[in-house]
Amino acid sequence: MAKKVLILGASRGIGRELARQYKQAGWHVIATGRLVADVHALQSEVDRAFALDVADPASVSSLAWQLDGETLDLVVHVAGIIDRHPFSDPVTQERFDRIMHTNVLGVLQAMPQVAPLLKPGAGVLAVISSIMGSLERTVTADSVLYRVSKAAVNMVVRSAQAQYPDLTVVALHPGWVRTDMGGSGAALDVSDSAAHLRRLMGGLKPSHKGQYINHDGSAIPW
Ligand SMILES: NC(=O)c1ccc[n+]([C@@H]2O[C@H](COP(=O)([O-])OP(=O)(O)OC[C@H]3O[C@@H](n4cnc5c(N)ncnc54)[C@H](OP(=O)(O)O)[C@@H]3O)[C@@H](O)[C@H]2O)c1
Repeated sequence: MAKKVLILGASRGIGRELARQYKQAGWHVIATGRLVADVHALQSEVDRAFALDVADPASVSSLAWQLDGETLDLVVHVAGIIDRHPFSDPVTQERFDRIMHTNVLGVLQAMPQVAPLLKPGAGVLAVISSIMGSLERTVTADSVLYRVSKAAVNMVVRSAQAQYPDLTVVALHPGWVRTDMGGSGAALDVSDSAAHLRRLMGGLKPSHKGQYINHDGSAIPW
């Protein structure tokens, strides 16, 4: 039977490419998009697509019934935004809320709904974080809101691993990738990043539980 993956945030960028590659590899792919037009486009590319706005608690609360009866091998939470607000300008609550709701609250709300659908012992729950969430690797203050949100989502991953010891829960850095977010000057093509992430997620061992991992398989310091 085909393995089943749920990709949260697949309208474009890394999520779209992961959906494409998993489908091509023979997986049963369920994918979400924020906008209805993107869901329609996804429906022709994957096995099932539905709308999900991870920053909208009402939308995220529909995940459990949308997925009722599904058994999943892998969930990849990809949806995320960046904010390049400079540290020297006082941040508004609106900007703080927007990025924290998207990059952190959405993951926190989705996890308890999707974790019970993953196969005990074998299921993988991967969150696309960023190396910019590493406390140890931080030597500049650029994009501080994004850094704060990714450091916070890393704690969500560690907490989720403690909550669901039968699953493998990981925070992954996809590399610096040529997408709308990464920009055209980024180091990695999106197809290479997605291929690296697929290889990594496919080879996870018990020792990877709760880890923060680069797309090349190396460990990232928290
Ligand atoms: N690109 C890089 O260099 C890089 C590096 C490190 C980490 N990452 C992380 O990798 C992930 C994907 O990034 P990307 O480069 O593919 O970015 P992207 O091209 O900007 O795509 C972002 C994706 O997230 C979705 N999204 C944003 N807000 C959402 C919401 N409220 N509800 C549902 N979906 C939402 C977008 O959907 P819409 O089309 O509807 O907006 C889109 O599918 C992000 O978490 C990002 O932080 C990227």
